[in-house]
Amino acid sequence: TGAFTVAIDGPAAAGKGTISKAVAAHFGFAHLDTGLLYRAVGRKVLDGTAPLAAARALVPEDLERDGLRLPEVSAAASEVAAMGDVRQALVEFQQGFARRDGGAVLDGRDIGTVICPGADAKLFVTASAEVRAERRYRELVDKGYETTYADVLADQRARDKRDRERTDAPLVQAGDAVRIDTSDMSIDQAVARAISEVEKRM
Ligand code: C5P
Repeated sequence: TGAFTVAIDGPAAAGKGTISKAVAAHFGFAHLDTGLLYRAVGRKVLDGTAPLAAARALVPEDLERDGLRLPEVSAAASEVAAMGDVRQALVEFQQGFARRDGGAVLDGRDIGTVICPGADAKLFVTASAEVRAERRYRELVDKGYETTYADVLADQRARDKRDRERTDAPLVQAGDAVRIDTSDMSIDQAVARAISEVEKRM
């Protein structure tokens, strides 16, 4: 069957990560959370490296560093993600991953529009801003991070706005993507829906 590619895009904390992992596990595909690429670059920038140099020097081990989900890294990731040269430096790695034999799931913001416009299945996973902020807030609190719902919502609004309004690869639903709004769905329902949409396209 060769390289079957699933593209999953959407805003922060809509459920993309959980759904992508579950879809990959269900079909035995490899999974790449492309947000980690921008987070790893953001981390290096916080440590003093220039953005483009950080993107060019990225190695797979960088995606496994601790603390990549912390709010300060989210903010730095969102900033470097608006830089066209940084995005360009990360294209080849993502497209290579997408082409691997045995199938791949990539999740991010621009997979179905820019990285893999020819993907076999495209999902756009979304949820209301309030539901997404609530989920991210719980996640952070569970990890022992001290924050408030209001701060999480404000940070997320700023990141969403930057993702949607940037010139280079803005967050937008691909014309041929299936929209899944997870606001009123359980994780199991959202996963089941995603799997059935992918199955239809096999
Ligand atoms: O998905 P996650 O929140 O981990 O992504 C971190 C940041 O990386 C996002 O705020 C977004 O700006 C950026 N990103 C992107 N394109 C992708 C994946 C993530 O611009 N494909």
